[in-house]
Amino acid sequence: MELREVLVTRRMPESGMELISKEYKVRVWEEDRPIPRDKLLEMAKGVEGIACMLTDRIDRAVMESAGPGLKVIATMAVGFDHIEIAEATRRGILVGNTPGVLTEATADLTWALILSIARRIVEGDKMTRQGRFNGWGPTLLLGADFSGKTIGIIGMGRIGFAVAKRAFGFGMKIIYFDPRRLSPEREKEISARPVSLPDLLKGADFVCLHCPLGKDSYHLIGGTELGLMKPSAYLINVARGPVVDEPALVQALREKRIAGAALDVYEKEPLLSAGLTELGNVVLAPHLGSASIETRDKMAIMTAQNLLAGLRGELPPYVVNPEARNAGRKTPPS
Ligand code: DGY
Repeated sequence: MELREVLVTRRMPESGMELISKEYKVRVWEEDRPIPRDKLLEMAKGVEGIACMLTDRIDRAVMESAGPGLKVIATMAVGFDHIEIAEATRRGILVGNTPGVLTEATADLTWALILSIARRIVEGDKMTRQGRFNGWGPTLLLGADFSGKTIGIIGMGRIGFAVAKRAFGFGMKIIYFDPRRLSPEREKEISARPVSLPDLLKGADFVCLHCPLGKDSYHLIGGTELGLMKPSAYLINVARGPVVDEPALVQALREKRIAGAALDVYEKEPLLSAGLTELGNVVLAPHLGSASIETRDKMAIMTAQNLLAGLRGELPPYVVNPEARNAGRKTPPS
């Protein structure tokens, strides 16, 4: 019997690849870069399942190219803003993601960035390598303390909460902005106080973004919001690039209207806004939020589990659009 075919848009850790290839014929984009759009459209033809990466735009054209047999799309990411969910649902295509397993790794990376920007680790590393370190100095590369300071978390979901827990350990005050309030028990656990967005921006020494990207969060932080922040405050973005108006951020940093920024994600990723790399008061990471060996292994396994369940006609264990099951398997007219 001929094996049914699935597409994996970039080689995942073997833990996930093995699970899939035991049961299905796998087409894989083998190059170590995101699959180009034309290849994605070509390689999607006729597949029943797609395991994709957050770098792939999975829209109507891709679903159309796969054809009416496409049952499931499993992304190896918690964020699914790169998939047209409404279109998938309309077509009865189930979508799965990888929540939970990357929470701790992403919170760790957030803290790596907070520490790096506020304690000037990257500047110090550069100075030391370049032979410009002439010995201890009483005012050499002075940064900011954490204890007693205020962290403002925008998006108090799993990752936001894990970042806040770490902040609690650092002896910080915690304020947060989220349309959904934490339960009183959860608020008490980390002494967190809900506030409005303007109050958070005015009051926080560290503003950390952990909200998903959607209509409501696109350019949530622009020139006006940056203008509300303290001149001594830092902005940290480990969510999605378009949550921040990046050119407005470059301008604020250039004019030293805020103390600094640490970014893991970019508005037009992997492209960077003009002027960003010339600034000394930024730390720039290449989207490493979940990039630990253990976490990426778990993400690959979850992606495979979502894909395989959808292919069997079951609900993926981490399904984003369970309502797709009721949409039938009819292909809408194009
Ligand atoms: C995700 O999974 O959405 C993260 O951005 C990956 O690091």
